[in-house]
Amino acid sequence: MTSPVIDAHSHYVPRGWPDLAEAVGGTDWPSLRVDSATEATIMIGSSEFRRIGDACWNAERRLADMDDDGVDIQVVSPTPVFFSYGRSAQQAAEVSSIFNDLALEITGHDPARLVPFCQVPLQDAEAACRELDRCVANGHRGVEIGNHVGDTDLDGGGIVEFLTHCAQSGVPVFVHPWDMPTSPRLDRWMAQWLVGMPAETHLSLLALILSGAFDRLPASLRIAFAHGGGSFAFWLGRADNAWHQRHDVVAGGSSRPPSEYIGRFSVDSVVFSEASLRLLVDVLGPESVLMGSDYPYPLGERPAGAVVRNSSLERQDIAAILGANAARFIGMSEA
Ligand code: CO
Repeated sequence: MTSPVIDAHSHYVPRGWPDLAEAVGGTDWPSLRVDSATEATIMIGSSEFRRIGDACWNAERRLADMDDDGVDIQVVSPTPVFFSYGRSAQQAAEVSSIFNDLALEITGHDPARLVPFCQVPLQDAEAACRELDRCVANGHRGVEIGNHVGDTDLDGGGIVEFLTHCAQSGVPVFVHPWDMPTSPRLDRWMAQWLVGMPAETHLSLLALILSGAFDRLPASLRIAFAHGGGSFAFWLGRADNAWHQRHDVVAGGSSRPPSEYIGRFSVDSVVFSEASLRLLVDVLGPESVLMGSDYPYPLGERPAGAVVRNSSLERQDIAAILGANAARFIGMSEA
């Protein structure tokens, strides 16, 4: 039996939510300006943040697109602008619960095909664990987290405690870059997305490795990183070299060089070229790559998984990337 085809990286935005200033206090919260039956704009205060289409909230549209793309199951994750890590933990917990409940209204249209991942108030490990437990009890199957909280990387600020809780609860974690640094140099040509996001994801993987966090975390933790793990795979040799050559600076935290942590994490396949996909497979192993599309956003891949399907990788590797690896990641029984 072959595994179902699983897209491990997609996003939702609900078609509306309560006025967050009224609901939780504070100002400059995201709101949704509905422009037509199929178009809306996420607003931050009075500025336009992102124009979106009804695929963000309309489950029927999403399922039809999945049918067109040959995708059986989609992991449906939050859109990072709603993480609220810069707010108080109380506010972030309330916003998380609002969006997590709205996510279930979308995925509830076909829970066998739409697998919801929740968001949590990651700035407070205890509150994050509490929201995770509430969500899992309500039907969420995993959690998406941002790759940092302010100046704290994934190895700090209680995040390792949260990740340990995820491991112990058997809940998979999807790490998505967000809140990229801004500067005039990065505000051109989508450089925040093209340079900032891959660098951010690279840094969060290095943080988990070089801090020794992976040494402390249970080996059972299932954790995957968006966008092919950013720049990580390409520069793994450089990181290893630094670990050996500048042992005094780089090697204080982790018990082993970075390349020996391969197998502790997965990455998605949304890299848009066979050469890049092949690099991921060569460096990280075919069992550590999950098909992901970033649907329905403009920098996503359509049809989902096209580069994987059209690649000249081994047939069994293509099959693993299209489904079996993600089935293990989200905890479906092996097909
Ligand atoms: Co994404």
